[in-house]
Amino acid sequence: MTKISIELKHVSKRYQPASSLFKRKTSSPLVLKDINLMIPTGEFHVFLGQSGCGKSTLLNIIAGFLPKTGGEVLVNGSEVTEPGSDRGVVFQNADAAIFPWLTVEENVGYGLKMQHVSDKDRKPVVERSLNLVGLEEHADKYPYELSGGMKQRVQIARSIANDPSILILDEPFGALDAQTRRTMQNELIDIWQKTGKTILFVTHDIQEAAYLGQKISIFSRSPESHIAITIPVDRPYPRNVYSSENEQLVNTLNQYFEVGGPVK
Ligand SMILES: Nc1ncnc2c1ncn2[C@@H]1O[C@H](COP(=O)(O)OP(=O)(O)O)[C@@H](O)[C@H]1O
Ligand SMILES: [Mg+2]
Repeated sequence: MTKISIELKHVSKRYQPASSLFKRKTSSPLVLKDINLMIPTGEFHVFLGQSGCGKSTLLNIIAGFLPKTGGEVLVNGSEVTEPGSDRGVVFQNADAAIFPWLTVEENVGYGLKMQHVSDKDRKPVVERSLNLVGLEEHADKYPYELSGGMKQRVQIARSIANDPSILILDEPFGALDAQTRRTMQNELIDIWQKTGKTILFVTHDIQEAAYLGQKISIFSRSPESHIAITIPVDRPYPRNVYSSENEQLVNTLNQYFEVGGPVK
């Protein structure tokens, strides 16, 4: 039987209105409404949706950073109530996520150090993680000496060092130039294939979703966003972006992205 990594049942989210602090009765809309999804272990799953539709909100609920309003969120069969070492998170803004006063190596080993893993046991894990993202030559550098792509590699290596079963990435390559972005996408596919981790990747970029996703869940517009459709993409990697299959997929994604489905 296929193991399920992430299971979402009727998940909804409403942010508390700021005015509730003053006990006035205003109701804020549901950002997410009735989200249902099952992500099998080892799948590369993409959330695609327009800006503001609630992708980060849902990721943060799955990561355990945010409380949900309703429904159930199960990770490896257990209800999510807080962040856990089974989930590693990579954010778009590397500068806010990595420590400027620590070297690359120290950043990558930080989580393990916090768990009191000894220097001796930490070293090989950090080395392996740096190798996986191609940063072994830069272990002693500080973040200010790194390019945007390299900083994202540090974040990815840091997540992997903790050996989570799920890697959650929120628009991680959004701030990179097109060429670096493609390199990073290829590296992420490589890491996924080498480690077998479940990957949950958020983007608002249709081409990126088509290039990466084994399954692509498209979100409807906010408020009350839900998953309009989940599209399986049964094509090998690396994908040919100039093929007619890719063109067809991008067209379909476009239709759901713009108007919520094919125009009849
Ligand atoms: N902390 C917050 N408090 C109130 N509303 C929020 C908060 N964070 C996000 N929102 C609102 O929730 C909606 C979804 O936001 P978000 O999850 O960031 O979307 P996305 O990641 O798809 O761009 C937006 O309308 C946004 O304004
Ligand atoms: Mg977001």
